[in-house]
Order: sequence, then structure tokens, then C-alpha cells
Amino acid sequence: MIDSKGKLLRPAYFYLFSRLGHANQDMHKEIVAAAASTEVLHLATLIHDDIIDESDMRRGIETIQSKHGKDVAVYTGDLLLSVYFDLLADATDSVEIIKLNTLSMKRVLMGEINQMTNVYNTDVTYENYLKSIKGKTAQLFELSCYEGAYFGQCNPDIIEKSRSIGQNIGIAFQMIDDILDYTQTPEILSKPILNDVKQGIYTLPIILGIESNKEKFLPLLKKGENLSDSDLATLVSLLNDNDCIKRAQVIAKKYIDEALLSIESLPSHPEKDTLYSLTKKLLIREF
Ligand code: IPE
Ligand code: IPE
Ligand code: MG
Ligand code: MG
Repeated sequence: MIDSKGKLLRPAYFYLFSRLGHANQDMHKEIVAAAASTEVLHLATLIHDDIIDESDMRRGIETIQSKHGKDVAVYTGDLLLSVYFDLLADATDSVEIIKLNTLSMKRVLMGEINQMTNVYNTDVTYENYLKSIKGKTAQLFELSCYEGAYFGQCNPDIIEKSRSIGQNIGIAFQMIDDILDYTQTPEILSKPILNDVKQGIYTLPIILGIESNKEKFLPLLKKGENLSDSDLATLVSLLNDNDCIKRAQVIAKKYIDEALLSIESLPSHPEKDTLYSLTKKLLIREF
């Protein structure tokens, strides 16, 4: 998994923010350790997520749970959580930063639990969906941007803005992931597709579909985990016919635009432009 081709977005945001500060070379080791910790936490959540999803592919390779069994995958994820805290301890003596990390992890898990309380719930609302993704995904982007600004010794104004920039990026990132689950191929995504709906996880495109065309969507969704391949194909056509994919993209764009506006307001810096163009690209990413 460590050698597999992840996008490394969380440490990338960490680094970009850290460059906006005045930290000198002496801080390099700490910055590397803290940036790595964000990716290790992410990886632990993915390994556990693949157990829950019974997924057989991640980052283009067979998942740990498929190759070695769920028991090994549980322990591997747990092991990475200990590596995560070990890296953090290499990066800082600050109890506040450790506490911030435990709080973030708690919020990630509360997001996952909130999502689980709504499985197969066709009444799930946009607000509730937002609550889940703010926790399970945006929290880690928020933490990565904030820690980058903190360890890079940025001005208070940047540190302050880093949180909301990270949150908006994270929300949009999960919305786009949820869209790609309906529009992309497993080969390009390097992971299975059409998994969310079969598991009863009704993400943005489906929520928009139910809102606008209950009569068509509910009979299909009522089939729960028994959705056949042809049902899934019907569902994808319904999503397209009702503009659910386009409308979901518009909503994701709002969050990206919010982040871009805030990035624009940061003091001028070469890395600010990289931060801006990377964030803009997230909207049109294909994997
Ligand atoms: C996948 O994250 C899980 C989500 C939060 C949607 P990424 O798409 O960042 O996964 P990798 O790290 O590139 O594999
Ligand atoms: C993200 O949700 C999972 C985590 C935040 C750990 P998904 O369930 O959408 O992630 P993928 O699609 O399996 O990568
Ligand atoms: Mg998943
Ligand atoms: Mg997904």
C-alpha cells in the first residue's frame, strides 16, 4: 500500500501551506514527519474502509482485506494508527497538536458513524450528507492545511484561513469522489465503482435524484443490496436524465470556488499559485 500510487493530496496540501510560512531548514525533519502522519492516517482509514466496503481493489492493486483477510486488514489499519501517532510525536512536543489530532480523528469517525446511521435511508437529507462528509473527509483536509500552516510558521492570518480552505476543499473532494463513483471506470479510478448505492450510502447525486424524481428513484432504491447490474445501469441513466451529475458538479464547484476565493486573499507567494491551480484542478479530476 505504501508503494502504491495514491495521489498524496493531504501531505501535498500540508507542504504547500508550510511553504507560505517562515520556518527555516531546521524544521525540515518535523515538517516531513507531520506531513507523512496525515497520509498514514488517511491510509489507515482506507484499509479499514475497504473491509467495510468488502472492496477488492484500491490504488489499482488488490486490497489487504481481499488478499490477506479482514483480520489482517484490521490489524494493519490499527498498526498504521500507531505509526501515525509515532510520527506526530517525532514532529512535535505540543500536547495541543496531539489533542487536535485526536479530536480530528474523532470527527472523522463520527462522520463515518453518522453515515452508517443513514444506510438505506431514502429520507437522508443534503444537510445530513454534508455532516457525514465534513467529518469523514473534510476533517483530514482541514487538519493537513492547518498543520502545514502551523509547522511552516505562517502568519496568524494564514493559519486562521487554512482551516476553512481545507474544509471547503475536503467537502468538494468527497462530492467529486461520490460523482466519480457513477461516471468513471474502475480502471481509471483504480478502485471499484457503483459501490456506494449498493451499500445503501446515498450520496449527493442520489439525494438530488430522490429530491427531484421520487417516483422513479424510490422503487429502484427499495431493492437495497439486491440491485442487479441492469438496475444499476438504469439508475445511472436516471441520474443523467435528471441532471443529478451536473447539479452535483455545480454544488462541488461552489465549495471549490469558496476555497479559491480564500486562497486568492493570501499574501502573494509562488506556492500560493500552486495551491490555487491544484485546488482548481480537483474539480476536473478524473481519478
Ligand atoms: C479516497 O481518497 C477516499 C476519499 C476521501 C474519497 P483519495 O482519492 O485521496 O485516495 P488516494 O490516497 O489517492 O488513493
Ligand atoms: C471515503 O469514502 C472513506 C474515508 C474517508 C476513509 P469512500 O467510501 O467514498 O472512499 P472510497 O470511494 O472507497 O475511496
Ligand atoms: Mg469506500
Ligand atoms: Mg467513494
